[in-house]
Amino acid sequence: MSSVRDYGYREVPDREGGAAARGWWDDNADEYLDDHGGFLAGELRWGPEGLTESEARLLGDVAGRDVLEIGAGAAQCSRWLAEQGAHVVATDVSGAMLREGRDRAPAGAGVPLVQADARALPFAAASFDVVFTSFGAIPFVPDAARVHAEAARVLRAGGRWVFSVTHPLRWAFPDDPTAAGLTATRSYFDRRPYVETDDTGRVAYAEYHRTVGDHVREIAGAGLRLADLVEPEWPDWNTGVWGGWGPERGRRLPGTAVFVTHKD
Ligand SMILES: C[S@@+](CC[C@H](N)C(=O)[O-])C[C@H]1O[C@@H](n2cnc3c(N)ncnc32)[C@H](O)[C@@H]1O
Repeated sequence: MSSVRDYGYREVPDREGGAAARGWWDDNADEYLDDHGGFLAGELRWGPEGLTESEARLLGDVAGRDVLEIGAGAAQCSRWLAEQGAHVVATDVSGAMLREGRDRAPAGAGVPLVQADARALPFAAASFDVVFTSFGAIPFVPDAARVHAEAARVLRAGGRWVFSVTHPLRWAFPDDPTAAGLTATRSYFDRRPYVETDDTGRVAYAEYHRTVGDHVREIAGAGLRLADLVEPEWPDWNTGVWGGWGPERGRRLPGTAVFVTHKD
């Protein structure tokens, strides 16, 4: 694995930024799942606050429904949905994330896994009743409109596309879960991605910011209707820290936004 040479907020060519995720998640799958796999296991969580789908019910009744997860990572969410009676397919651009998930899953908890970029899904139109992701794909592509268009394409009429991302407001604040992270140090309107380059100068990681309005426009542009925007509050039971998310800041500022959209 090459080391980080440089990091910060700066423009990079879309092609390079959008291609970085696959290699980064392949290289970091092990470490990510060692750190967070326990918290994510056995549930569908919408973000580091810990909100579960059994509490929030954002996907509707999934029993007997065809469900597609994009940016599934280790597919913990898909496995939980299969237990609820859904017919689920889990997809991710990183083969290592899918493989690690399969290898770490309890015996008998299998769901179909497909390696695919969410911007070019290998499924026929109108194949699914629900498409969703918890923090997958969208933050890592410069062209999220393509993900929304693909979700809309593979959904049947009446279906839902639900996705969670870092709350857009958070991009104005440092990546610090303590009181030091409560002062805005950047412009909320600065759309430059957060980028890491490796010791060869290659873009190794890129994460993209969109304002609330940007997300709403992209959803509308895909012909979808925004039904809800859920901003999970930090619960008392959760004392954990995950990067810039933690109880101290989480009680004052939102860290996650979950967009619930419908295909009419
Ligand atoms: C933060 S993880 C989220 C995964 C899982 N929901 C979780 O909470 O662990 C982000 C995932 O998005 C995937 N991803 C990034 N870009 C993608 C793309 N263009 N298409 C599909 N998946 C992508 C990564 O490989 C990674 O597994």
